[in-house]
Amino acid sequence: MISILVVDDECSMRDFLSILLTKEGYKVTTAPDAQTALKKLDSADYELLITDNRMPGISGLELLATVKEQRPELPVVMITAFTSPEDAVLAMKNGAFDYISKPFNVDEIKSVIASATRNTSQNAPTENLSEAFPNIIGTSKEMLRVFDLVRRVAPTPANVLIYGESGTGKELVAQAIHNHSKVAANPFVPITCSAIPEELMESELFGHIKGSFTGAIHDKKGLFQEAEGGTAFLDEIGELTPIIQTKLLRVLQEREIKPVGSHRIQQINVRFIAATNRILEEEISAGRFREDLFYRLAVVPIRLPSLRERKGDVPLLVDYFLKKYSTLLGKEVREISSYALQILMNYDFPGNVRELENIIERGVALEGSNIILPENLTLPQNQAALEQEAKASNNTGFTTVTNEEELLDIGLEQVLARIEKQLIRHALVETNNSKMKAAELLKISFRSLRYKVKKYSIDAPSTK
Ligand SMILES: Nc1ncnc2c1ncn2[C@@H]1O[C@H](COP(=O)(O)OP(=O)(O)OP(=O)(O)O)[C@@H](O)[C@H]1O
Ligand SMILES: [Mg+2]
Repeated sequence: MISILVVDDECSMRDFLSILLTKEGYKVTTAPDAQTALKKLDSADYELLITDNRMPGISGLELLATVKEQRPELPVVMITAFTSPEDAVLAMKNGAFDYISKPFNVDEIKSVIASATRNTSQNAPTENLSEAFPNIIGTSKEMLRVFDLVRRVAPTPANVLIYGESGTGKELVAQAIHNHSKVAANPFVPITCSAIPEELMESELFGHIKGSFTGAIHDKKGLFQEAEGGTAFLDEIGELTPIIQTKLLRVLQEREIKPVGSHRIQQINVRFIAATNRILEEEISAGRFREDLFYRLAVVPIRLPSLRERKGDVPLLVDYFLKKYSTLLGKEVREISSYALQILMNYDFPGNVRELENIIERGVALEGSNIILPENLTLPQNQAALEQEAKASNNTGFTTVTNEEELLDIGLEQVLARIEKQLIRHALVETNNSKMKAAELLKISFRSLRYKVKKYSIDAPSTK
């Protein structure tokens, strides 16, 4: 039985809600003020808190703030007077799931409460945090905070807004929320808002009926219908045009859609997760994003830290991607040299985890041995550093590794092999690819050169 705590200083309101909700099959407990409510929240589990705002002592908004801090997964529905819409906006701003307005409309109450308690879990999962998300790597406190939020919000029906720079893992986290939700068996439908032209948006999202416009030869389900019972992932939400923003707001408020060309309204039961790499507050100030839509979407906001803020996770991520790509590419590159890792630790990753992943993938693809070396890292800053080094080493045209730590890491045999390879390539270039002359230059026999060229599979270098 779903358990609800109702907080109101007016006895008649408590009685009214108590009778109504008990009749609907909920288990109802009441409290006359916020203080009592907090005590009750401590001593028993509730799936929903309904609270009045204006009460003597602690206000409903203050109660909301405390609850959001202590138990962000608990949905809170605020009661506001019809005459004070600013309370409602404030409530949504502070993380309320929704609000109901006085005087009460029974149907409204029922529908808000039904959706607030849908899918809420009786008992929160207790798995170890980072183990619960094997494909999201990180043990920094910034990431543990993310895991904790994801774990708590996943089983609730609350809409989530994930924001952070490009490549920080927003889609990965959205998928994780869905996978840990009560509707994991139902569809997860990613929708890239920026990829759909405005004139097609409505029909793409809400569907259309046959004949509603030229080209509509069949009835077509929209993406929101496809997501029925599951999760719609609205990616790049900051790119939505004002008209679509208004339509989406209506969907979130009414939980219903009208396919293009249809007069029939359809109820939808979809959880929304949105993502953006824009700062939506700035978009709101600039008048480009609707504030009311923002609060509907960002019931629980999750900020993903940039990789710069959690450099400590770089070695773990490198390890993870080394394994991933050496398996994928059928290679044995399982290590990174300490100097190469040091270069990565000093890099600021404007492209975040995606950029690191690409760097390691390229490194693995290009490396012939089992270790990633500085020159296998193709990153802008490294490029500059390597060029500098090349200049410093007397313009020989090839870079040398000068750090002894680095050399020990690689091992003597490999170091010698590298030098051999570089010198042979250099000699071949100098001699216009004549093995005879190159051997002379290298002061080794022709046979020995031919053997080494084969051993290191040195291709004929492009000549000058
Ligand atoms: N913590 C992480 N652990 C492992 N892989 C990660 C992590 N974060 C991101 N990735 C990987 O980095 C790549 C980019 O992640 P994702 O697509 O989720 O980023 P995004 O934030 O949605 O970026 P954008 O804003 O550019 O769309 C993906 O291949 C993803 O698997
Ligand atoms: Mg993305």
